[in-house]
Amino acid sequence: MSSRILAVVGARPNFVKMAPITEALAAHDGVSVRLLNTGQHYDRALAGSFLERLGMGDPDRDLGVGSGSHAEQTAAVMEGVEADLGEHHADLVLVAGDVNSTMAAALAAAKLNVAVGHVESGLRSGDWSMPEEVNRVVTDRVSDLLLCTSADAVENLAAEGITEVVELVGNTMIDSLFRILEATDRAAVLSAQDVEAGRFVLVTLHRPALVDDPARLGEVLAVLGELAARLPVLFPAHPRTVARLAEAGIEAPEGVRLAEPLEYADFIALEAEARLVITDSGGLQEETSALGVPCLTYRDNTERPVTVELGTNTLVGVDPAALCEAALAALATEPPESPPAIPLWDGGAGARAAAAALSFLRR
Ligand code: UD1
Repeated sequence: MSSRILAVVGARPNFVKMAPITEALAAHDGVSVRLLNTGQHYDRALAGSFLERLGMGDPDRDLGVGSGSHAEQTAAVMEGVEADLGEHHADLVLVAGDVNSTMAAALAAAKLNVAVGHVESGLRSGDWSMPEEVNRVVTDRVSDLLLCTSADAVENLAAEGITEVVELVGNTMIDSLFRILEATDRAAVLSAQDVEAGRFVLVTLHRPALVDDPARLGEVLAVLGELAARLPVLFPAHPRTVARLAEAGIEAPEGVRLAEPLEYADFIALEAEARLVITDSGGLQEETSALGVPCLTYRDNTERPVTVELGTNTLVGVDPAALCEAALAALATEPPESPPAIPLWDGGAGARAAAAALSFLRR
């Protein structure tokens, strides 16, 4: 009997989490995988280049949902996924992460009584003001197969009464990271960006809570300017951040190199060679931990505590002065000699996730 799986992706972080699983599934006989891209992200550097680089090929369906309010995006994805499931039978719908596309696809499938598998299940920031937290909780509640990256996620689910079917498989995003990094000429990327290994700071900031507040954004840019007096600061900015900076008339201080978002391989090459990373992204907290690169997270909370406990991540809060102090302290401290070992963040999570999905389907 063949198993049909619909894998749904839509935004930058989804592609890297899903690719190792669809690849591992495709290697099994009797399994067919259909790839649906919601199109939540449509800029090439945020979407198309990821699909190519990760070898995911052209999606079987592209919903072209694009930007919109949360309700608009959610509704458009739900309609598209519902239509696709009406035309193409699926035994399991796989969704990844915590973006609007994730929750919308999970809800649409659950309402059609199609089983849902959530990749990166169980993470909790406890911060209900984050759209991602709403997405995580709703997605987990309607999922039938909950694939976790770390033990704390399994505990979070248990605390909400969710114990079936929960599988700790590890972090599939780290599979993609290791695989693509190995095939990337890091020296060429450093030279193209005109920086030296271990001699620059890499910054990404895109969350609405920060970038939609012009006063705070300006103060953070000033902090980056202070750091730039010591080391070059590379800031490949999300389109939202670029738009907010322009609206507020904030210019990058000297030494802060504001740039377009980079393609995946180039970005992780820089991440691996940075002296320090400053971010509000969830994914970067994990990638820097796997790479052994010090990371300062400019947020009050993290849904990824394992990166603080075992990894290289420090939560600094959202006070620009505290960020400045923490960054100067980090630059004065030797980085770890080798990356910390986080259980199951070993490059084999995609294969374990695929095996878990197939054993779920055989139940
Ligand atoms: C989304 C996720 C966030 C994730 C981030 C990764 C949600 C709620 N948020 O945030 O968790 O960390 O992706 O990158 O799903 N835009 C473009 N080009 C694009 C996509 C977006 O210019 O390809 C601009 C548009 O102006 C849009 C804005 O960015 O309005 C926000 O995009 P949206 O998809 O709503 O969420 P992200 O901020 O990208």
